[in-house]
Amino acid sequence: MNNRQIIVGLAERSYPIIIGSDLFRTKDILDNIGLRGRRFVFVTNDVVGPMYLSAIAERFLSSGRNVENIIIPDGEQFKTQDTLTSIYDQLIAKRVDRSTTIVALGGGVVGDVAGFAASTYQRGIPFIQIPTTLLAQVDSSVGGKTAINHPAGKNMIGAFYQPQAVFISLEMLRSLPDREFKAGLAEVVKYGAIMDYAFFVWLEQNMQALLNRDNDALGYAVEQCCLSKAKIVENDETESGLRALLNFGHTFGHAVEAGLGYGKWLHGEAVAAGMLLAARLSLLTGDLKQSDWDRLQQLLIEVGLPIDAPNFGCNRYLELMGYDKKVLDGKLRLVLLKNLGEAYVSVDFSKELLIEVLNGVKQ
Ligand code: NAD
Ligand code: GLY
Repeated sequence: MNNRQIIVGLAERSYPIIIGSDLFRTKDILDNIGLRGRRFVFVTNDVVGPMYLSAIAERFLSSGRNVENIIIPDGEQFKTQDTLTSIYDQLIAKRVDRSTTIVALGGGVVGDVAGFAASTYQRGIPFIQIPTTLLAQVDSSVGGKTAINHPAGKNMIGAFYQPQAVFISLEMLRSLPDREFKAGLAEVVKYGAIMDYAFFVWLEQNMQALLNRDNDALGYAVEQCCLSKAKIVENDETESGLRALLNFGHTFGHAVEAGLGYGKWLHGEAVAAGMLLAARLSLLTGDLKQSDWDRLQQLLIEVGLPIDAPNFGCNRYLELMGYDKKVLDGKLRLVLLKNLGEAYVSVDFSKELLIEVLNGVKQ
């Protein structure tokens, strides 16, 4: 597959997303996009680093750049203040200054924490993203959300801080465990469901190729998702409106993750079941057709994602979704579907219908 490039247009903070296979085999890959700076500090983890760091670092070195590394432990449980502090400590020990670029090499955890370190170290130094999971390639590496977790909640401390470039090299997905890959496909399906009916149809026709990790199919899907994400971010960088559509299935999904205890289900698995609950509510409101709900369910079944949310009982769900007095006054926002490929944010959905949906959770 030929390399493709998408520009995220944000005036002086615009940047390219380059999508291709074996990107770092291309001799001029860094110079082609005019990557500035000579010194690059890679932040990666102890799973991804051993697989990919040396080959990529070689491309930087052979094109006249200096490379250093910071290795963090693997896992969401390390997306913390302690990890962030250890990154700052190492940047300071290396006497990193504002002309140095941080390279986030890994999944969403590495991207979020390395990006947040870049956004705050010496009031902000450049960073680039090399996402290595499907979720990171279609979602977290694009759009500039960076964060760490706090014991009180996920992503509680963070910043909007756009990268200089995103390099998506598809062959890296071959080593991704099946469960992680499928969880990433939940976010891929989400783009079709919320804003791109033609892509949803393409997914129905090409899901087997994606599951086989066919390079051309992956390239097309990742490109479509990045185009959609770029469009949303260009219109609403800091999530004052349109960007909230990306949360389709996420309010229900977060309730599933929190109710089961974080880590039991992967985020994408919870989002899959959550999308079906949000779609069920859309059905009850009279917007979505039953046949479209069936198609969404069928596609998620084909991926092999969970379609039945755990049964915590309606009241527990409402609590987990933050549906207390405060949100009853109009603050709980749910993303619902008008049609497949067309979502909207609803604040005035019927509480009775939401309860009907949650009472219908049977597993
Ligand atoms: P992750 O970063 O934990 O990666 C999942 C697992 O796969 C890890 O064990 C990782 O080491 C491993 N891995 C990564 N690439 C691999 C590869 N190529 N081959 C083999 N193993 C590989 O999880 P994730 O799903 O990528 O990201 C989840 C995180 O992203 C969460 O913290 C979430 O909050 C965040 N997120 C951020 C945004 C955003 O906009 N910034 C959006 C969505 C999610
Ligand atoms: N993943 C949601 C967002 O980037 O806004």
